[in-house]
Amino acid sequence: PSRYRTVHLQRAKDEGRRFAMLTVYDAMTAALFDAAGVEALLVGDSVGNTVLGHSSTLPVTVEDMVTFSAAVVRGVQRAFVVADLPFGSYEESPEQAVRSAMRLVKEAGVHAVKMEGDERFVPHVEAMTAAGIAVVAHIGFTPQSEHVLGGYRVQGRGDGAADRMIASARALEAAGAFCVLMEMVPAEVARAVDEALTVPTIGIGAGDSTTGQVLVWQDMLGLSDGRKPRFVKQYADLHSVITDAVAAYRRDVITGAFPAPEHQFES
Ligand code: KIV
Ligand code: NA
Repeated sequence: PSRYRTVHLQRAKDEGRRFAMLTVYDAMTAALFDAAGVEALLVGDSVGNTVLGHSSTLPVTVEDMVTFSAAVVRGVQRAFVVADLPFGSYEESPEQAVRSAMRLVKEAGVHAVKMEGDERFVPHVEAMTAAGIAVVAHIGFTPQSEHVLGGYRVQGRGDGAADRMIASARALEAAGAFCVLMEMVPAEVARAVDEALTVPTIGIGAGDSTTGQVLVWQDMLGLSDGRKPRFVKQYADLHSVITDAVAAYRRDVITGAFPAPEHQFES
């Protein structure tokens, strides 16, 4: 397709194919991932950690999400762009969810929004869908609820938890969610959820049976420092690439090796 839409993600599920999603927060990086063929891009509220330097996603505002999402949309030609509803922008009521999601669609031009929450948020999904907004429901570990969930922990373990997650996912699908994203869920549970749904699923730390996979790009490309979650596969070491290049640039400046004659203008 010249432009990925919800129907293409649904077709992937129907035909037993997979698709890739990456987070992204700026136009230049979005253009790179788009050109590399990534089907879907997520302007995650992880922008709070990766770009804004917060220690969680909780401080991120709708205004922040509009700014970063608009930049991503401007950088993209083919990819399907999803933006997160940030903490505090939808929980109060379906009306609040519609209002916030509408800003992301109208002001930033995203193709869908993602909202964290289980079946208690069915009315919110129904209202946004009725308003013409495509919704991804994010279940399993939901980082915006870390203080209720007791930290970063795998969800869907223990007696009845898998059945509850399947019931949640089914309710959100029935409410209109065109896709269900699962974070940090045992592979077997995520497989059962995927099999219980007609709509496509996306996983992060949710095994190999979801329709799509998503990773935070700075983790995937090795830009972020420090310990990575078990579910991350690192495909490059941008941390070293950039550190070495910047140190070389600095050395050249100090020694006078840069700028060379070819970098200079003549009168
Ligand atoms: O904000 C984010 O990056 C996300 C993904 C990790 C799913 O929600
Ligand atoms: Na998020």
